Amino acid sequence: MDHLTWNDKYFVGLKVLDDQHLELFANLNRLHQAVTSGLDPSVTWPLISTLMEATRRHFVREEEILAELGYPGLESHHTQHLELIRRAQSYCTRYRCRESPLSPHLLNFLRDWFAHHLQTSDHAYATWCKEHAQGQEVRVP
Ligand SMILES: [Fe+2]
Ligand SMILES: [Fe+2]
Repeated sequence: MDHLTWNDKYFVGLKVLDDQHLELFANLNRLHQAVTSGLDPSVTWPLISTLMEATRRHFVREEEILAELGYPGLESHHTQHLELIRRAQSYCTRYRCRESPLSPHLLNFLRDWFAHHLQTSDHAYATWCKEHAQGQEVRVP
């Protein structure tokens, strides 16, 4: 069973960002599957690296698009992204230092953060885009 299940309510209506959100869900679920199957850290660490790289790439792209659209909430959105990276990085460093398997705390933290951020902050820009970004490629489910 997926750790984080995609639901249509997560769509923000901008295809490139929806695709990246789906990729983050898939990466997190792959990592969760590996951890719960008891796979060795030599398997799980590359998966967490992939997830963190995809997360960073997504944040950069999302912020670029929001800047292009002139989204007024960009600065606080950027701060939230930075905070997630900082906290996830701190989890990773702690567990890597102990050379222990990845903690379920990190998986739960990422699941809860993604789900909450998508439904609140990402949906706030989605709503703004629908109202202000006429002419842009905006797809609403
Ligand atoms: Fe975001
Ligand atoms: Fe996002």
